[in-house]
Order: sequence, then C-alpha cells, then structure tokens
Amino acid sequence: MSQNSTRPQNGDAFNADDRDGFLHRAFMRGAGRGEESIRERPVIGICTSWSELNPCNSGLRRLAEAVKRGVIQAGGLPLEFPTISLAEPFIRPTTLYLRNLMAMDVEEMITASPIDAVVLLGGCDKTVPAQLMGAASAGKPAIALAAGPRATGRFEGKPLTIDDLWPLSDRHRNGELDDAKWSELEGCLIPGVGTCNVLGTAVTMALIAETLGMALPGSTLLPATSAARGAAAEATGRRAVALARSGQTPDDFITSTSLENAFRMLCAVGGSTNAVIHLEAIAGRLGHRLGLDTMAEWSRTTPVLADVRPSGPYLLEDLQDAGGLPAVLDRLGDLIRTDALSGTGESWSEFLVRTSSTRDTPHNPALRTADDPVFASGALALLRGSLAPDGAVIKVSAADPRLLSHRGRAVVFDGLADLNARIDDPDLDVDEDSVLVLRGVGPLGGPGMPEVGQLPIPKKLMSKGVTDMVRISDARMSGTATGAVVLHVAPESAAGGPLALVQDGDVIVLDATAGRLDLDVDPAELARRAPTPAPTPPTRGFAALYHRHITQSPQGCDFDFLTSTSLTTQGESS
Ligand code: FES
Repeated sequence: MSQNSTRPQNGDAFNADDRDGFLHRAFMRGAGRGEESIRERPVIGICTSWSELNPCNSGLRRLAEAVKRGVIQAGGLPLEFPTISLAEPFIRPTTLYLRNLMAMDVEEMITASPIDAVVLLGGCDKTVPAQLMGAASAGKPAIALAAGPRATGRFEGKPLTIDDLWPLSDRHRNGELDDAKWSELEGCLIPGVGTCNVLGTAVTMALIAETLGMALPGSTLLPATSAARGAAAEATGRRAVALARSGQTPDDFITSTSLENAFRMLCAVGGSTNAVIHLEAIAGRLGHRLGLDTMAEWSRTTPVLADVRPSGPYLLEDLQDAGGLPAVLDRLGDLIRTDALSGTGESWSEFLVRTSSTRDTPHNPALRTADDPVFASGALALLRGSLAPDGAVIKVSAADPRLLSHRGRAVVFDGLADLNARIDDPDLDVDEDSVLVLRGVGPLGGPGMPEVGQLPIPKKLMSKGVTDMVRISDARMSGTATGAVVLHVAPESAAGGPLALVQDGDVIVLDATAGRLDLDVDPAELARRAPTPAPTPPTRGFAALYHRHITQSPQGCDFDFLTSTSLTTQGESS
C-alpha cells in the first residue's frame, strides 16, 4: 500500500453526515444523480486525455462510457475528469517537454479529488507514461486502459502502417513518389480511431503498463474500435472498484520484480527506445532505478520473440492472434518473474496457468519461441564509452546488422536548423561510411529531446541506394522509426557532454555487441577544444521550471523534485 502521499485520499466525502458531506452530495444531486447512486459507493475517477487536439485519443469517450458501465455493475460511482493531453503530431517543441507537466496534472487531480481509485484512459505516446507517473506518485489504487491501436490501412495495394511513412517520405523526397500519390497517402495514412498501429511508443508503453500489472492482461492489442476493447473497458471499470475495495496501490504492482519483467518484455517485442526513458521515470517515482548496466545485461539475456513492425514484417493483429502480451510473457519462461502481480490481482504465474488453454494457438510467425527467436539477444543495446559516459541506446533489431560494428568519420550538425540547411547539400563531405552526428537536441538543448535522431540519409547517398548509416545524437526517435541510430547520448551536449566536442572528420567507433560508443580522439586534443556555450536559461513560466529541474535520460528526464528521494538501483538490494 502506498506510503507516498501524506494527503487525504478517499471518496468518503460523499458519505459524511456533516456539512461538507451535505454539500458534496448536493452538488452531485444538482448534476442529476439520485442520492442512492452517490452514497456508500466506491468513487472511481476516470482520468481521460480525450481531446480534439489529440486524434489518437478520439476513441476514449466511447471507452469512458464502457468503463462507467463496469464501475456501476460493480457498485461504484464513476466520475470522469480531463487532464491535459499530448498529441505527438501537434505539440511543440515536443511532447516529452510537457510529459512531466501532464504527470503533475494527473497526480494533483487524483490526489485532490474525492475518489477512491482511478482508471487511466490514455493513448498517444506520452499520455500513458505521464498517467502512470502521476498515478504512482498520487498513491491511490489505479488501473490503466489505453486507446488501442488503429486499423491497418492500405496503399498501393499493400497493408499500410505508420512506419511506412519514413520510406515513403524518402521516395517522395527522391521524386519516386509524385505529388498526387503523396496527397493520396495523406488521406489514408491514418485510417481511423486509435493509436499508431505498430510497436511504436504508444503501444509499447501500453504493453509496459500491462506487464507491470497496471492494466488488465490481454487488453493492450485489442483494436481501438473493437467490441472486445469495449468489453475490456467494462472489465477495467469493475476491476477499479475491486482495487478501491482492496486498497492496493501502484507500489504493490510497480516493484523491482515487475520492472525487470517490463524491461525484458520490451526487449522481447523490440519495442520503442523511448520506453527506456519512460520506464526509468515511472520507476523513479517509486524509489527504483533500473540503471544502464542492469538494463544492458537484461537485454543481452533476453531473446527477441516478436517479429512485428517496425522491426519485423508482421502486423500487431498477428501478434494479437498469437496471444498478445500474455503469450509473450509465457514464452519468455524463466526470464519472467511470475510472482509479480498481473492486472487481475493474481500473480502472473496464476494468471498464465489459469488461461493457458486460450493460448493453444497454431504456429504464428509473428511470435517466435525462445528456442527459435528472431534474435538470440538484445533488441536494444545500451552503450557506454568516451562519447557517452552516462549512456546511450540503439535498437539493434531495427538496424542494418553490418553497421552495428562500425568505424567512421563524423559529419557534425549543430541543431536542426543546421541539419536541414546542409543535409542535402551536394557539396557535403559525406559518404556511406560517415557517421552523422546531431547535437543540441537533448532534454535541455532541444528542449525536450525531439524525435529527430533518425537523421535523413543525405540525398546524394540515397540516390546511390544507401538506406542506412550510423547516426548519433542526444535526441530520441519515433518508436515507429528504424536504422542504425544511436540515441539519448548522455550527458547531452548542452549539459557539457563530450558530444559537444566532436568535430567533422573525428573518428567514431560503435560496437553495439560490446556496448561501446567511443570518440577516437586524443584526450589532450579534446581538452583544447572549447565547449559549446550552455543554452540561455528561460526566466518565466513552465520553460523556467523545466530548465531548472529536468534530468538527463538515464534519470528518465523526470523533474528532480518529482523523483523519489530514496532511490534503489536494481541489483543493489533484493
Ligand atoms: Fe499518437 Fe502515434 S502519433 S499514437
């Protein structure tokens, strides 16, 4: 049970016979509810990020209605409330810049409101981690249900998913896809309601919530508009009432054990690199730190089992047909600590045994077995070295394997404006062995680590058929993107990391298998180079708060004052 909050935490406000209770009931009755639907019932908040400014969340109203049905079925009183919402395509400078603000909104609304438990309805990438972070800190019983993936589209007679945007965009840039086709693509890229339909950040984070026991097992991959997702929403409402009655809080579910499970699951499905940051932020709220070296070891010892887009050829619906998240955990066998709690309140072991007959599915290539994995280890490689003393990450399952051990000359870009101005310059001194470096785009420098780490291949190389190169930055990349892309280099250049000292022509050495990223330049020469000036601190508003308190990616880019004051790094204690 939570020890996190010191503030009052229940919905008894509607039962008291004093003047406050009278007023609470009077206002609810004024909203058209009878006294019997208010008194003596667990009050379940439904925290929703529905917003017309967030199309990926447009299905959440329908789901909220279904959650309410479930809450009422179980004898509770459902009360829906909004928070800010973060849409990847619209928010500037980045949604990560505002993730902590949303987490604060979620935490304060849960804490301040007279509710006994909360259902978290989110969808687009940052909404799910923001809700989990806020709920973890609020310390009331909580369960999540994500918006669910949208349907697969069709283009040029083939299935179309969001990750197809990157190669199609290159074809348009190259003149292979004319403007009429490009316009046709605009009309069919997003074929309906729901979140991105591959293992991007939104679905990855929903899978993490499910693995942590913060969502019902099997709920993540149900299609956004399916009847099954509606039924899962009703079940989530019923479960929230049960949680309110049991008093179990997020710290009962988010433990060192379940965090290890979540990270291994992330590796097994080849999920989004963004999840590494979000998982540290969620863990940090409850006193846990996964740590780069522990994550590197877990990744090395976890096979990649899911062969779905963007890393593999199969669709999310194929993974769902193979049994979804429970099947992934089942196939990981002893690598998963099944004493951790699932979202039903059973241990994963109890849940997997009870439901084993439902996973008796025929061979499905979208989900392999541990004996016949897509890769024997390491969807993600966590790197350290002289260029990234505090770490960096690369999704090796989505990279050209030839580039995972590579030595090349740096071609350096200082920020996005410089990149956009020069990347397609015919006179740019670059070849296919070069290493493209982008800096000034980290948590501070971006600000908010924009998803620009997948630098475009220079046009003159693309026209020669080059499709992948080693690219390094202190930015992030979309969970739908691929390539030999080293991300989250820490410390970032704006915080004085060595990335700030790289010059054109310097030799950079990447060895993903050994977990190394090094700058092959004499330290004495580096000491002579002037560091990049730090960005000017903003003086007002959220920008000033952000600048003063944002942490680096190994700390989950949370605000320092929101992270638990007593952190235990994974492996340091049982
Ligand atoms: Fe919203 Fe992908 S852009 S889920």
